[in-house]
Amino acid sequence: MTGQRQWDPIRLLEAAKEVYAKAYVPYSNFRVGAVFMDADGHLHAGCNVENAAYSPTNCAERTALFRAIADGRQPGEFQVAAVIGDTDSPITPCGVCRQVMAELCRPDMPVVMGNLRGDYRITTVEELLPGAFTNRDLRK
Ligand code: THU
Repeated sequence: MTGQRQWDPIRLLEAAKEVYAKAYVPYSNFRVGAVFMDADGHLHAGCNVENAAYSPTNCAERTALFRAIADGRQPGEFQVAAVIGDTDSPITPCGVCRQVMAELCRPDMPVVMGNLRGDYRITTVEELLPGAFTNRDLRK
């Protein structure tokens, strides 16, 4: 098991593409889909949901993660995440989602970033937000 992936980036991106289609994006018309795999291998999916007031918009990554937590998954248990968008290069999560992932995912959790052309890149939560402010910083 050591050193062997329990997941396939292409299959994760396919699952992210399914929820991508459900995005509510009347303002940007820019769809994003994300999935987070929990410790049991189940996928928690989310899309971006926009709002006429703009700032209440929720990105796909946060929709998926918040949904997983509401479903009883524990912070730090996620094995991997995948995100897809219709970008020229593989999509990269926004700063707010990076901060939320730093809170709820292990720093070494892989993040698969893809686009509709089939390009993808794999990074980690820590690489996305080095030096993140976390709950450790709140301890006195
Ligand atoms: N968006 C995401 O859902 N995830 C990302 O990684 C980047 C941006 C959404 C927010 C908004 O609904 C639209 O994409 C345009 O910024």
